[in-house]
Amino acid sequence: MDKPKVVLGVSGGIAAYKACELLRRLTESGHDVRVVPTESALHFVGAATWSALSGHPVSTEVWSDVHEVPHVRIGQGADLVVVAPATADMLAKAAHGLADDLLTNTLLTARCPVVFAPAMHTEMWEHPATQENVATLRRRGAVVIEPAVGRLTGVDTGKGRLPDPTEIFEVCRRVLARGAAEPDLAGRHVLVSAGGTREPLDPVRFLGNRSSGKQGYALARTAAARGARVTLIAANTGMPDPAGVDVIQVGTAVQLREAVLKAAPDADAVVMAAAVADFRPAAYASGKIKKKDGQEPEPIVLVRNPDILAEISAERARPGQVVVGFAAETDDVLANGRSKLQRKGCDLLVVNEVGERKTFGSEENEAVVLGADGSETPVPYGPKEALAETVWDLVARRLG
Ligand code: CTP
Repeated sequence: MDKPKVVLGVSGGIAAYKACELLRRLTESGHDVRVVPTESALHFVGAATWSALSGHPVSTEVWSDVHEVPHVRIGQGADLVVVAPATADMLAKAAHGLADDLLTNTLLTARCPVVFAPAMHTEMWEHPATQENVATLRRRGAVVIEPAVGRLTGVDTGKGRLPDPTEIFEVCRRVLARGAAEPDLAGRHVLVSAGGTREPLDPVRFLGNRSSGKQGYALARTAAARGARVTLIAANTGMPDPAGVDVIQVGTAVQLREAVLKAAPDADAVVMAAAVADFRPAAYASGKIKKKDGQEPEPIVLVRNPDILAEISAERARPGQVVVGFAAETDDVLANGRSKLQRKGCDLLVVNEVGERKTFGSEENEAVVLGADGSETPVPYGPKEALAETVWDLVARRLG
């Protein structure tokens, strides 16, 4: 089979150096990558680097190899175009259909999925002109990854950083896998919780669970690749932030509830993949609990934590909001799942069997998605990403 053809557009920002890493990831994973930098991008990384890493000649303008009509052929032949970094100027040109160099011509002739990974100073990103251009590109079906927050060029920090190249690669991989499918979550805001809460006993100890957060992260990454604005509430996961996803870190169930309730009114869908502790210690010892010679330890008294899924399902902070829960069961998996779906009042419940070697921390999962409408969607054993795609298929159908 032919390798998938990817065009890596690079526009003129300091983050161009990070695109070398993205290029490596793409080529090493079996993609045929043609790099199309802009003239200004070459101020940051030279043509020799792009050419050596991609194994293809590199040109910025339409006047080389004219007999091969590169300004049309490169775009026409691509399975994916990714522009990283995309400057404010590049977004403006793409939104308005300007075509004054090879990259902008390529963007006009490409009929494949297009991903933009913007990087610029916060003021430029937040400027209404840029925001309107981004909205235009998204409306037309492009995936525009939200920039990350962090250190910018010079001493500034803020929103505008190019996300980690590994994470941009993850978006590209998912968009390519979807082929011609539209980014059906474009214009939607989805909220995902991931990980497992920790309920502190004293400054050094907590009650926790074995959730790794991988399923929640797979849901967040998949939603971003399908065009959604994603807020991920992460409880003790320790994983890198997915590209284009706003990540809010929390520790306890009470903090998770606060973060979910704050973000939910603005969300079209809420997916509670986090393993929330049902109980927390009734008392928190501000100093470390010490063992005492000749004395048995004090029993730990627990109190119930609020049930966040039941609460958001009952309240529906936004009309038409789709709420998805997860159920980890060890016995009577389907029967328990069905009664849990009813009890919690959510629209969909992903039921999976857990055990010593199943689900927790692994890359694979097997589940049945139960619908409040009586539907049952089995998801065979496979990567957590595949389960995530099924969940979003079902959510997108319900969002209409
Ligand atoms: N959940 C929640 N708040 C809690 C506990 C759980 O929002 N305090 C959510 C989880 O994020 C998950 C779903 O509820 O989406 C199922 O959690 P689970 O712990 O399996 O359900 P329980 O109601 O605790 O049922 P059981 O005690 O039978 O395990």
